[in-house]
Amino acid sequence: MDNQFAKPTVLVQRVASVILVALLVIFASILGVYLYRASDPYVQEVFSLNRNPARGEAIFEINCAGCHGKQGDGHVGPTLHHVSKHMSELSVIDQITSGDTPPMPKFQPDPQKMADLLGYLEEL
Ligand code: HEC
Repeated sequence: MDNQFAKPTVLVQRVASVILVALLVIFASILGVYLYRASDPYVQEVFSLNRNPARGEAIFEINCAGCHGKQGDGHVGPTLHHVSKHMSELSVIDQITSGDTPPMPKFQPDPQKMADLLGYLEEL
């Protein structure tokens, strides 16, 4: 009698452990990618620099305001108000430098300009 009930239980346990292992693998890869990106020399340099939001604003007006609006109010691109609250700075750097989401072009500002830009975005 017991065996008839044991089988489905074993199956459930196996499925649960496969799901658990899969989740662990996914988590480990996300963490790995994050640590890998955070250790990027460009990112490290950006994070090490002092930020000048006023210079960041000038860079923003030239490169970004056409799509994101003069004060980041949104236009072709989404509003960037409070962007620093829902995106990590690493993701913002990635968004700016990757060119993965057309029509937003790929930018490659030098580390100081990127730091200033982040300083400005933080204030929006
Ligand atoms: C040609 C138009 C264009 C230009 C220029 C542009 N963007 Fe974008 N940007 C977009 C669009 C469109 C999206 C939405 C992309 C998507 O998620 O599909 C976006 C998304 C973003 C996001 C993510 C916002 C979010 O909430 O997910 C950030 C941050 C951003 N842009 C920053 C910048 C910065 C900083 C610059 C200037 C260096 C810039 N963008 C220049 C069009 C543009």
